[in-house]
Amino acid sequence: MSFAKVETLRWIDGRLEMIDQTRLPAVFEYMSYDDAVGVAKGIRDMVVRGAPAIGVAAAFGVALEGLRSVKLEASAFYKALDEAFEVLSKSRPTAVNLFWALQRMRDLLNRVRDKNTREIADILLAEAKRIYEEDIAINKKIGINGASLLSDRARVLTHCNAGALATAGHGTALGVIRSAVELGKSISVYADETRPFLQGARLTAWEMVQEGIPTTLIADNMSGFLMSQGEVDAIIVGTDRVAANGDVANKIGTYMVAVLAKEHGIPFYVACPLSTIDMSVESGADIPIEERSENEVLGYRDIKWAADGVKVRNPAFDVTPARFVTALITEVGIVESPNKSKLEKLFLN
Ligand code: MRU
Repeated sequence: MSFAKVETLRWIDGRLEMIDQTRLPAVFEYMSYDDAVGVAKGIRDMVVRGAPAIGVAAAFGVALEGLRSVKLEASAFYKALDEAFEVLSKSRPTAVNLFWALQRMRDLLNRVRDKNTREIADILLAEAKRIYEEDIAINKKIGINGASLLSDRARVLTHCNAGALATAGHGTALGVIRSAVELGKSISVYADETRPFLQGARLTAWEMVQEGIPTTLIADNMSGFLMSQGEVDAIIVGTDRVAANGDVANKIGTYMVAVLAKEHGIPFYVACPLSTIDMSVESGADIPIEERSENEVLGYRDIKWAADGVKVRNPAFDVTPARFVTALITEVGIVESPNKSKLEKLFLN
């Protein structure tokens, strides 16, 4: 396997290890998994999060289940794998990369049914490793494509974490920033804190500080002010699912940023692999939006600050209509003002 700078996931001694992103940056620790139920729980609890990373983890979850079931009779082996697909597909609803990766593993399984359980398990593991490696290569292409959009000394705002931690490596939105820096551009970053799970403060800030990319943390309610002061040149975010019409589902709060960007004439870019584009959903209205526990809004970890008895909503994602998206940055190129016919063309080759 190729080596990523931040090894969000790694395959060691027949087990999947994932950085526990619920504890970063205070604690840097890997969690270790040997079955699909464990990986599904890791996805649900957000030990691993970010659309492409969730897809990669799910592929390894299937592979782990195959490996631990090789000694079973064929029918029991297939039952174990069916259950693995089922539990993994229920782990989180919004990121389409999860379903994309599971479908890719399912299609492969269907093609190798004539083989014995040992051979099938090895084939599934090889495919999971391939998905991992492809993801890094794709992110590097996204990075190069997107870097051309950033001028030297650009001040770039990002929301949530679409970095190495959200992928197999390099990242999508942060991948564009990394690539621009690698190309010699001087880039500075504004990281939105990203309440309630704090992916910006905890994860994006951690990644950028590790690499010495100048980064300023702001609370989510500060970005409009900075835009109005002319302090933001571009916005780049990732996405969990792009609908056929170009609507973009991403971390809650993205929509507000996009609307403000339009008001201030600032380009709003969305970086994503083709596997995040879901041509089976017509518009953002059809994208399932995850609602998470009220505890995430009532406080953080063991600290609770909200008044007892208050009602809570916690939608984890929102939808930014395509009209607010300046361009999608993909591994096959930049799609300005995305719409259905432009997205369809991406899948013709
Ligand atoms: O709830 P999360 O942390 O999984 O949400 C992650 C995001 O919203 C990311 O922006 C998106 O998955 C793109 S990651 C390259």
